[in-house]
Amino acid sequence: MNILSIVGARPNFMKVAPLHRAFEAHPQLQSKILHTGQHYDAKMSDIFFNQLGMPQPHYHLGIGGGSHTYQKANVMLKFEEILNESRPDVVLVVGDVNATVACSLVSVKMGIPTVHVEAGLRSGDRSMPEEVNRIVTDAICNHLFVTEHSGLINLAKEGVPDEKVSFVGNVMIDSLVHFREQAAADPILEQTGVSPKSYILMTMHRPHNVDQEAGLRDILQVIRYAAVHQQVVFPIHPRTANNFQRFGLFEDLQAIPGLLLLEPQGYLQFLKLMDNAALIITDSGGIQEETTYLQVPCMTFRDTTERPVTVELGTNFLMADLNPETVKIQMESILSGHAKQGVIPPFWDGRAAERIADKLALLYSTSNSTL
Ligand code: UD1
Repeated sequence: MNILSIVGARPNFMKVAPLHRAFEAHPQLQSKILHTGQHYDAKMSDIFFNQLGMPQPHYHLGIGGGSHTYQKANVMLKFEEILNESRPDVVLVVGDVNATVACSLVSVKMGIPTVHVEAGLRSGDRSMPEEVNRIVTDAICNHLFVTEHSGLINLAKEGVPDEKVSFVGNVMIDSLVHFREQAAADPILEQTGVSPKSYILMTMHRPHNVDQEAGLRDILQVIRYAAVHQQVVFPIHPRTANNFQRFGLFEDLQAIPGLLLLEPQGYLQFLKLMDNAALIITDSGGIQEETTYLQVPCMTFRDTTERPVTVELGTNFLMADLNPETVKIQMESILSGHAKQGVIPPFWDGRAAERIADKLALLYSTSNSTL
């Protein structure tokens, strides 16, 4: 059984790496990887292939940046050509980026069994591009692999039959478990000049937070408040850096005392930075899960989450009010010892990819398969 796994943007790489490893180790499965090229900078893409031990992608569509419509339309046209040449037995998509929905639309229409890993997550906020990507992908894929209990509930509410859904755990946590020890040996803390548990790690890149001047000014204020307590380490996403430049605020950002502005980091470096942070402030989806596993307090700069288990069981605090003054109160409360301890959610044990490999092999060999 030949499986073609799709990656496009940074959060996909750490999800596909353990799947590729598990497929290659399985006697009935063979694995290839296709990169749409949505993320193209070496620091947003190549470094992850190297650090995660993935082969160079077998296919690269070279799409690059552009509006979401441009990205998806071009991915669809080029992906159709690839599928016409080489028909895999299964196409596998992960997460909720543009590549996820664009590729699943093409392969499903061509009658190729298509499966979605990290299915069923819902923020309830359709103004997020990822929410639309999730809903469409789940509606059309043949089999759905779920990371947390809320995914089962959401899919059942949307009328997906039980036999199309498997609760397998979290492949991104597979990567974390696999690479945590290697990351611990990385010299990033010494290179950055910070000590364990004495800094706040920050990431921010959602269009809702960084595409308007008002949002950028709120972020500046939050960093100023945070830097009063501890050094702030901020690896800045290209979207965010471009927008600070565009609104003439980049110098204000650089001028904040106690802020260490870094380029986007590699997987191992960022994992070590997370593992040793006193607190993480983010608007990422995946970081909410990684901090829950690492039991590091996380403040999520969003008023909804598609990953509620990170709030219910984990260390995540959602900022229902994004006002910097409210964020300051919450931050001070956490830093003064009022963080949650949290527990690790069910099946987040480093073996999700193996479960997916076994399930795919089983589905494929069953005559009345739902694939
Ligand atoms: C995408 C995903 C988002 C994910 C994020 C992680 C979608 C809808 N969004 O958002 O879910 O959390 O990736 O990073 O798929 N850019 C570069 N170099 C790069 C990549 C991007 O300069 O290597 C620039 C682009 O040209 C663009 C901006 O950054 O100006 C945003 O990139 P884009 O791929 O549109 O979306 P992200 O914000 O990265």
